Parts: sequence; C-alpha cells; structure tokens
Amino acid sequence: MTDKTSNQMWGGRFAAGPNAIMEAINASIGFDQRMAAQDIAGSRAHAAMLAATGVITDNDAEAIREGLLTVLSEIESGSFQFSTALEDIHMNVEARLKEIIGEPAGRLHTGRSRNDQVATDFKLWVRDQFDAAEKGLLALIKALVDQAEAGADWVMPGFTHLQTAQPVTWGHHMMAYVEMFGRDLSRVRDARKRMNESPLGSAALAGTSFPIDREMTAKALGFDRPTANSLDAVSDRDFALEFLSVASICAMHLSRFAEELVIWSSAQFRFVTLSDRFSTGSSIMPQKKNPDAAELIRAKVGRIFGANTALMMVMKGLPLAYSKDMQEDKEQVFDAADNWMLALAAMEGMVKDMTGNRESLAAAAGSGFSTATDLADWMVRVLKVPFRDAHHVTGALVAMAEGRGVDLPDLSLEDMKSVHEGITEDIFTVLGVEKSVNSRMSYGGTAPAQVRAQVARWKEILG
Ligand code: ARG
Repeated sequence: MTDKTSNQMWGGRFAAGPNAIMEAINASIGFDQRMAAQDIAGSRAHAAMLAATGVITDNDAEAIREGLLTVLSEIESGSFQFSTALEDIHMNVEARLKEIIGEPAGRLHTGRSRNDQVATDFKLWVRDQFDAAEKGLLALIKALVDQAEAGADWVMPGFTHLQTAQPVTWGHHMMAYVEMFGRDLSRVRDARKRMNESPLGSAALAGTSFPIDREMTAKALGFDRPTANSLDAVSDRDFALEFLSVASICAMHLSRFAEELVIWSSAQFRFVTLSDRFSTGSSIMPQKKNPDAAELIRAKVGRIFGANTALMMVMKGLPLAYSKDMQEDKEQVFDAADNWMLALAAMEGMVKDMTGNRESLAAAAGSGFSTATDLADWMVRVLKVPFRDAHHVTGALVAMAEGRGVDLPDLSLEDMKSVHEGITEDIFTVLGVEKSVNSRMSYGGTAPAQVRAQVARWKEILG
C-alpha cells in the first residue's frame, strides 16, 4: 500500500507526498490546462493506434475514447476540477479518465511518456498559433493594401533620420509595411512547415519496445511525419523558439509602424486621424485623443522579445534529453502568442479605420526642400553636370532659400542662375512634389504607377 498522500500516478516508489512548496514549484496545471484539447487529441490518437497495433484491445480503446470525450466536455463546460497535486494537464486528464472508465485508463500510457506527450501537445498548440498568426497577418496586409490603393498618389514627405528627405506617396509608405508583414507571413509558413513532425511515440527518450505505429498517430494529428530521433524529439523546443523569433520580428515591425502612427497622429504632424474606436481620451485634458492602441502595440514587443530571450536562456544549458526546466516554455509562449495576436488584430483595426489627411500630407511633402534631389538630378540629366557638382550647386540654392525663408520652387530663375549659369526655366518642370514622385518610376519606386503595380501584385497574392 502506498501512502494516501503520495502521487497516485507514481506512488509505488514514494512513501510520502510532496512538500507544499515542492508542489507549488512543480505544478504546471495552472497554465498548461490551456493545452487540454491538444492533450486529449493526442491521447485519442495514441489509444486508437495502440488498438490498431494490438497493444490494447478494441474494447479498452473504445472505453478510453468515450471517456476522453467526457473529460473534454467537462473541461469545456468548466465543471472539471483541476488538481495541483496532479501536477499537469496530462495527469489531470488521465486521473479523471480513471475515475470515469476505471481500469482501461491505466492502459493509455503504454508506449508513451509525458515527455513525448508534452512535446506533442505543445507542438499542436503552437501550430494552431502559427495558423492564427497567418490569418492575422493576412488581414493586416489586406487592410494596408486597401489604404495603399486609396492613396496611391497622395504625396507625403519621405524621411531619413526623421528629417525630410524626398517626397513619397502614401501608397508607397503603406506598401513598405506590406512587404515587411509579407516576410513575416513567409516566416510563419516556413516555421510551421518545419515544426510539423510528431514527437508522439518517442516515449521517455529512447523510443519503446511496443510495436507502435508512429506514422499512424502522426497522420491522425495532422503532422507530416514522425520525428526521426527520439532523444531529439523530447528535448527539442526549437519550434517554440522559432515561434517566438518570428513573433519578435513581426512585433518589431508592428512596433515601428505603431511608432509612426503615434507621431503622425500628433497635432504637430496631423498626417493621420485615428478613429475614435481605436483611441482614448484624457480624464483631465478634454482636447486629448490619445493613440493608446498604437502605444500598447509598441510596448508589446518588449514582452515578446522577453519571452524569446527567456526561453533561449532556459534551453541553452540543458543536456539531452528532457529536463524539468523545459516546463518553463509554456507561459512564455502563451503570453507572447496572446499579445502577438492581440497586437495584430489591433493594428488591423487601426489601419482599417484610420484616415490619411491628404492636405496635411501634401503640405508637409513640399516643405523641407524635399525636391532638392530632383533639382540636382535635372542638372545631371539636362546640363550633363557631374552629380557631385550638381549636389554642390543645389546645396548652395537650398542655403539661399533657407536664408530667405522660402522653398526651392519659390526662387527665381535669376537666383538660380546666380549660383549656376546654365540653369534654365525648364528646371521648374521638376520642382513640384507631384512631379517628383511621378518621376520615381524605377521598379519598386514611389511613383503612383509603381505603387499601383505592387497593389495589384499583392491583391493577386491575397486572392
Ligand atoms: N508538465 C511537464 C512539462 O510541462 C510535463 C512533462 C513532465 N515530464 C517529466 N519527466 N517530469 O514539461
């Protein structure tokens, strides 16, 4: 007889139950109950396979199947009593199964271990999140493409060093983010494909002596194939790390855009008006409309990066195969996934609802000598002046305009000639911002025609 307080799943070797603090540090049920559906799916696949290979009887498999469905419905309805003494989701489910169906429940754990079980459950969970991220990214990309299409020819300042550089188009700026999120999407798809191998049947670390069929369980769970090395399978958390790295890069993109929206929605810029639905007010300053959603998206990146770093640190010193350290993987991934999905949805909502302020964008586009490069290029093209000399002349003209508090197109031909004899009236044909953007027809350039071509390409990709 074992001590009543010792663990009912392995009590045979133990004379006493754990200290309360041991139980507190050891238990993962507080968070891994989020993998209940995956755990039950894995167990159902495993039981069906054990019956198909003759390891357990069909009757036992049927009882297990029925019992697991009952457990699942109890969990879904909220009536399931989770127990910290039973440590984790795997043992909570199995112990309840035993209460419901009795003896056959004890046969479920044949030829498997919690080590391959947890790796399988967690992979299934992470895989669902890759799918959710794919959906979120596609929706966000679509919202950006719609914005780009609506404002393909709206001029705005393009910046380097956050100093006015050259005029660009609103559509071009939106499509820059489409490219970034498009790469995130391809990273999501790559990582999902790479991780889609089933650890189930790797057992504790060495495989099993039972004649199991790992192809069968892999297929039943939607994996492409079983993993090829049992030691690797139970100790690998690359899939979680790839998830967090992909999430981190995407969160970084989200954060950069969020930062732009914070700047753009300020009274000083007025490039964009965020909708009331994605803004908040101030409890003291009645005039305020704050871009809180953008700020929070900008902040989320911190915890997502943090999760990635934390799990890297957990994994980096672990000898093969499983160590309990690895239980620390889940909270990091759960938190990062929740916040990534939320940030994607919030960004999609903001982008859909926001209004680009065409007039403010255009007014800003013309300021800051944004067509200086066009002036220099004109001298190269028409006067055959070497670019370096044209750059110098243009610099002198900018200084002149700045001194007078006017913009380049406001200088007279005489002013221009005083700096460079050869300049003609024709120079004024390139100095407007519209002319400037229209001339940037190189592939991938900011000309509205180029932007529209990219919009069309993406619409085809989005289907
Ligand atoms: N709760 C554990 C985890 O999340 C399950 C695996 C336990 N395996 C073991 N050998 N103690 O990692």
